[in-house]
Amino acid sequence: MKCRFALLAIVLLPFGSEVPLRASAGNIAEPAAVSVLSDGLMVSHGGNTLMVTALRDDVLRVTASHVRGQFPEKASWAVVPSALSASVKVVAGPNSPDRAVGFRTNSLQVSISVDMRITISDLAGNILQDDAAPIEWHKHGFTVAKQKHQDDHFFGLGDKPGPLDRAGEAFTMWNTDMFGWQESTDPIYKSIPFFINFRAGHATGLLLDNTFRTNFDFGRSDPNEYTFGATDGPMTYYFFNGPEPKRVVETYAWLTGTTPLPPLWSLGFQQSRYSYETETRLMTTANRLRADKIPSDALYLDIDFQEKNRPFTVDTKAFPRFKEMVSDLTKNHFHLIVITDLHIANLPNAGYAPFDSGMEGDHFVKNPDGTVYSGIVWPGPAVFPDFTQKLTREWWGTLYKGFTDEGVAGFWNDMNEPAVFEVPTKTMPDNIRHRIDEPGFAKRTATHLEIHNVFGMENSRGTYEGLLKLQPDVRPFVLTRASYAGGQRYAATWTGDNSATWNHLRQTVPQIENLGLSGFAMTGADVGGFAGSPPPDLLTKWIEIGAFQPIDRDHSAKGTRDHEVWVDGPEQEAIRKHFIEERYRLMPYLYTAAEETSRTGLPIMRPLFLEFPDATTDGHPLDNDATGEFLFGDRILVAASPSPEEVAPYEVHLPPGQWYDYWTGERLAKIARVAARDLEQRDAALLNKPICVTPKLEELPVYVRGGSIIPIAPLTQSTMEKPDGPLTLRVYPNMAGGTCEGSIYQDDGTSFAYREGKFFRQHFSCTEESNGSVIVRLDAPTGSFTPWWTQLRVEVYGLVATQHSATINGKSVSLEPAKTSPSIIVPASTTATEVVIR
Ligand code: GLC
Repeated sequence: MKCRFALLAIVLLPFGSEVPLRASAGNIAEPAAVSVLSDGLMVSHGGNTLMVTALRDDVLRVTASHVRGQFPEKASWAVVPSALSASVKVVAGPNSPDRAVGFRTNSLQVSISVDMRITISDLAGNILQDDAAPIEWHKHGFTVAKQKHQDDHFFGLGDKPGPLDRAGEAFTMWNTDMFGWQESTDPIYKSIPFFINFRAGHATGLLLDNTFRTNFDFGRSDPNEYTFGATDGPMTYYFFNGPEPKRVVETYAWLTGTTPLPPLWSLGFQQSRYSYETETRLMTTANRLRADKIPSDALYLDIDFQEKNRPFTVDTKAFPRFKEMVSDLTKNHFHLIVITDLHIANLPNAGYAPFDSGMEGDHFVKNPDGTVYSGIVWPGPAVFPDFTQKLTREWWGTLYKGFTDEGVAGFWNDMNEPAVFEVPTKTMPDNIRHRIDEPGFAKRTATHLEIHNVFGMENSRGTYEGLLKLQPDVRPFVLTRASYAGGQRYAATWTGDNSATWNHLRQTVPQIENLGLSGFAMTGADVGGFAGSPPPDLLTKWIEIGAFQPIDRDHSAKGTRDHEVWVDGPEQEAIRKHFIEERYRLMPYLYTAAEETSRTGLPIMRPLFLEFPDATTDGHPLDNDATGEFLFGDRILVAASPSPEEVAPYEVHLPPGQWYDYWTGERLAKIARVAARDLEQRDAALLNKPICVTPKLEELPVYVRGGSIIPIAPLTQSTMEKPDGPLTLRVYPNMAGGTCEGSIYQDDGTSFAYREGKFFRQHFSCTEESNGSVIVRLDAPTGSFTPWWTQLRVEVYGLVATQHSATINGKSVSLEPAKTSPSIIVPASTTATEVVIR
């Protein structure tokens, strides 16, 4: 039954005064009690309480209860402690003539109406978010309804398949092992209850911090409302204002943490298969990668490397020299990643140490009658660690010691939704008992309904923190399938069991973008598709596009045909290799982007609207026209075909400004700010010549934003190899006016020494002078790390003159011969350098 508040009068109490809670929500004449707090307001009526507080001037926490005396616990798996305890002072009022009460921060105005609807505006009075109805309480759960406008767009919600823009769709959060999911499948592996609302170039963000089954409806049931709610648990959400979408993403990172700086090698090409079943098979793959000169950094062992699928064991018949094998791989610059699923084989009295020590420490989740719960997964009957106990996570972390001692570099936490076989729900029963024994939380037991969606995240947290304890100066690499909001602090992720179809290749773009907007910057999709066997052209196109995605892992299911780069003969191999090589040349740019992510939370792979929120005149996200396009870092635009299965012409929608062809360096005509989808208007403006492309199988259109300086390395076969030669700076002046910048970040790639200043960071800028010359400034580098290059090559694109000359700090130097674009060699320097090319 619906239970909407109905209040007619509000009584204001001064700050700090007791809130008189009075009876019956049905008594409409009853006054509400309002407490003015230093950081917000609390309004109570008939046992219902609503509290809105400001964590920052642009971040609000909204929490409510309809059970007298039971306000949600101020604890969170998602929100980091510093944000949870943050608060700013607010100014109460104004209280409007319609008896609404409110408060103001330095950037937001909050107003709560007599029926307890919240309206949030900016200080200019623009409404940013407006409740369509009071909170609707169900028996245990609730629904929040907000006004939706026709031009509202929604992004985020983690790995949900389907188009980038979630408008008009509805979703459920319930982590689910979903082999062979399709575009319309929901839910799948992750629950990230965070979304961005984007309207007319303005963005706000909302995190519903509730770990139970939650739901989101972005206008599917009612085009004038969007709603979200939960079946149980706290009615707590966070609202934050942009107005820029980038700022919303950064604020979400402030709230839930960033993706840590990954080990450099994890950005290299990764080769996997379910499974490389023997040492011979694995080593043959490794040797072929090197023999064919396919740059690569990581190899995976899937479940079959284990003794009867038992986590933390090795099948010594198939891998008789495991330790030596890992050492051989390491010498050959490969990092080995092994799967370590969370289900521990239920094997009493068998000498299986993870089971024995787990039982001894009472670390497994239990049935309501107190016995240990057992479910069937890969090893057969299995038990499950109680990851919401700190001590259990610490115990779990110790299980990695054998593998880290043997030189295994990364760990893969799969099946952690958690997946359970042979039951219709595919997971544990709802009434399973978990124990919460955790700093910041009240110690208690909780049912699986509450813990299910955070189980995978806490599994990967146990792994991440355990690895840090075992190897305090090594950046862990953990790959998880299931997670919750904030899980980016512990693990990279992938999109699970996709399929070897063209549609799934297309799907990688919106899915990785939405994961990036939801905090998960280190994300990939199984290259080539997991289920099914990709035809040669599909595998080739997938490898081309995957080379520009944050995690580049080729992986395939059991029983499918081989997927490795060489499988379809030399012609296909050559194309595939060319794109993987390009990724390695771009490694300095990619690593610099990953470092930015670790500080700001801005993703590596970005939708266009994130960088260009004003790209269209009516404020719709350009991505909705430009299906297939994405930004790799903030400067490189990859324009994959919206129909990659056919070699057919398609239009590339470039955001306004100056663009260059990445492959040729050719400067394109400037793009003016005109609604890209409005062909008539664009033609009338005669400004934007649509770029029509028809790439062949071996081609992928890639562009660089004018005003960029991109660092490029000489080709290596792995990130462990020292590049031989200068660091190239490709300079793309901004002929459209505005800034021209770039930077490079380097460190040892593996340790935490960068936190003590052992890094190298250099900022570059350029200006185009009216006489046609380009000045490139290399600022003095910061940090104490010495990078691999002793020289830089500065290449300038887009110059019109045919005869060129150059100076370094005022002294004439000669240009490199036989280069299509003017290029000079500059000695690396600890001081600032000015290069002029005319
Ligand atoms: C799951 C994973 C897949 C893995 C397989 C065997 O299906 O999603 O990537 O290969 O299990 O471990």
